[in-house]
Amino acid sequence: MVKFSPPLLGMFMVAATFYDAIVATTCGPSPDLNCCGMLVASGLGDKVLLPNQTEYTSRLGSYWSVSAALSPWCMVLPYTAEDVSSIIKTLVSGNCSFGVKGGGHGSFALSNAVEDGVTIDFANMNGTTYNAETEVASILPGGSWQEVYETLAPHGVTVTGGRAGTVGIGGFLTGGGNSFHAASHGMACDTVVNFEVVIADGSIINANAEQNPDLWIALKGGSANLGLVTRFDLRVIKFPDAAKPDIWGKFLSFDLADGDNAIDAMVNFTEHAHLDQNTSSIMFFGHIPAAGGMVLHLGLENTKGIVDPPAVAGYLNAGKILSTNSLVVPMADLVRSENPAQAAGVRNIWFTLTFKADARVMKYAASRHTAAVAKLSASLSPDSNFTTMCAFQPLSHAIAQHGVRNGGNVMGLDYWMQNGDSGILLLLELGVRGAENEAKAYPVMREWAREVEAYARELGVAWEWRYLNYAGREQDPLASIGPVALGRLRAAARKYDPDGVFQTLRGSGFKIPKGECD
Ligand SMILES: Cc1cc2nc3c(=O)[nH]c(=O)nc-3n(C[C@H](O)[C@H](O)[C@H](O)COP(=O)(O)OP(=O)(O)OC[C@H]3O[C@@H](n4cnc5c(N)ncnc54)[C@H](O)[C@@H]3O)c2cc1C
Ligand SMILES: *[C@@H]1O[C@H](CO)[C@@H](O)[C@H](O)[C@H]1NC(C)=O
Ligand SMILES: *[C@@H]1O[C@H](CO)[C@@H](O)[C@H](O)[C@H]1NC(C)=O
Ligand SMILES: *[C@@H]1O[C@H](CO)[C@@H](O)[C@H](O)[C@H]1NC(C)=O
Ligand SMILES: *[C@@H]1O[C@H](CO)[C@@H](O)[C@H](O)[C@H]1NC(C)=O
Ligand SMILES: *[C@@H]1O[C@H](CO)[C@@H](O)[C@H](O)[C@H]1NC(C)=O
Ligand SMILES: *[C@@H]1O[C@H](CO)[C@@H](O)[C@H](O)[C@H]1NC(C)=O
Repeated sequence: MVKFSPPLLGMFMVAATFYDAIVATTCGPSPDLNCCGMLVASGLGDKVLLPNQTEYTSRLGSYWSVSAALSPWCMVLPYTAEDVSSIIKTLVSGNCSFGVKGGGHGSFALSNAVEDGVTIDFANMNGTTYNAETEVASILPGGSWQEVYETLAPHGVTVTGGRAGTVGIGGFLTGGGNSFHAASHGMACDTVVNFEVVIADGSIINANAEQNPDLWIALKGGSANLGLVTRFDLRVIKFPDAAKPDIWGKFLSFDLADGDNAIDAMVNFTEHAHLDQNTSSIMFFGHIPAAGGMVLHLGLENTKGIVDPPAVAGYLNAGKILSTNSLVVPMADLVRSENPAQAAGVRNIWFTLTFKADARVMKYAASRHTAAVAKLSASLSPDSNFTTMCAFQPLSHAIAQHGVRNGGNVMGLDYWMQNGDSGILLLLELGVRGAENEAKAYPVMREWAREVEAYARELGVAWEWRYLNYAGREQDPLASIGPVALGRLRAAARKYDPDGVFQTLRGSGFKIPKGECD
């Protein structure tokens, strides 16, 4: 039991009936009951879910990763920015730790929810509205990209968003957002013209090029370190033909023997990606038992609906194609199907790395992937049904240029790309059943990541940049954004959160690395 100072207990006592119902001790309520009780007392009662409620249990099923679905003291589900303001004021006054869940696609424990605290779940703040006059789409943080694309397509427009329809808004947009439109528009956060955000003192403010521009820049990549975003206003992208809001996607499976050639094709594609900014690609080696074991898959897209644009010729000639599927469809349809290597409802371990576009590192990463799969097969239980991905994506230097042109951000890509370099973004993923299997797999995944990192450093092509939305629990992405972006992020945090609420009470997500002055 924790002793509470009189003002806190006094505030809690307002909820006399709730207090009587749940607390019968002489030394004051335990922090869980105190914090959840205070939320109820502040008028949010019908938005609070306690562990004994069936909705609480069903909310735990809304996390993409089982590893992330922690059971908090209670969950609170706001409907409006005013609710969010009351929530943050109440949690701060009660010294209550909290987690922040947007669409719930974080991969690891403490990426979004907390155990010792209150999870703020944005699920009920979802939906998209479009203003054709301003060409701005307003998107709430708790929805999914599927819904966004479906809502916008009839208007002949879209936005830069997730490439899997289930991915959430809040985390994706505050952490960057790599998309089909990255080469043409920058990271998704670069298309945000205004954030409505609740800061630590509970004020609801706007951040854009005119109002609070330092906060606008810091929210573009700063994750939940500055406030809770309650609405994102994005500049839309118009389709060439409004009546045909379609994009092209092609999904290929290569013979594994052609892996090296496919990698060479990606390096060449990456170096030329700024010349055709409408075309994008993702390639991965994966261990997918349901697909018969190890596979090499390639996804190609063109945001203007052009089939087989010249930029993909290198890929199409890279080797023996085992299967192919080409579609010209609305974005909502292209992102609907689930990648079997990224299935929801299992435990996950992610690591991410970046380096200059260099085929040697990619080939090494792929060969260490094969070794990691062999180790995992030997040590995990047969019913673990584990899947892996060794996924490569081009990071064209065009991405950083769009960011700068749109007012700047704290992503840090402009720092790593300042010599005009383009890079490769590597994501190492494991999906597995069972906590024991997850614990056994962790050191294997870490070793794989460390081997690739060490090799890239040895060749002098390593970037220290870690993409926040792909980073694993022990990675420190905000330490990798370079001195200018980090300075902007720290200055904005000091100004808008002087007491460090989002550094101390926030228990989930990535923090700002401590500096000499902290
Ligand atoms: C299947 C799958 C596909 C993916 N595809 C892509 C892709 O194409 N491109 C890409 O870049 N990434 C992709 N990702 C990664 C994705 O961007 C991250 O998982 C991202 O965090 C998801 O956002 P979310 O709202 O669902 O996350 P959550 O887990 O809910 O939140 C993650 C973090 O964001 C913060 N946050 C959430 N909401 C808010 C808010 N309202 N205000 C302030 N902070 C908030 C939270 O504190 C938390 O730290 C994918 C992930 C998965 C699982
Ligand atoms: C859940 O627990 C709270 C507090 O202990 C109690 O007031 C409430 O009646 C319980 N609800 C159910 C459905 O059991
Ligand atoms: C707030 O809680 C933390 C730990 O949960 C504790 O260390 C700190 O002293 C508390 N602060 C106040 C003002 O009670
Ligand atoms: C969206 O929010 C509404 C309430 O605002 C809620 O009823 C609905 O279930 C939410 N949708 C999802 C998919 O969570
Ligand atoms: C990309 O799309 C834009 C807008 O439709 C178009 O002007 C441009 O020519 C396209 N680029 C290529 C290489 O097709
Ligand atoms: C590299 O890409 C460019 C631009 O798409 C293309 O013209 C060239 O043929 C490619 N080179 C190889 C070896 O595929
Ligand atoms: C694991 O995979 C096997 C074979 O594909 C399948 O029969 C089984 O149902 C799967 N187990 C779980 C828990 O999904």
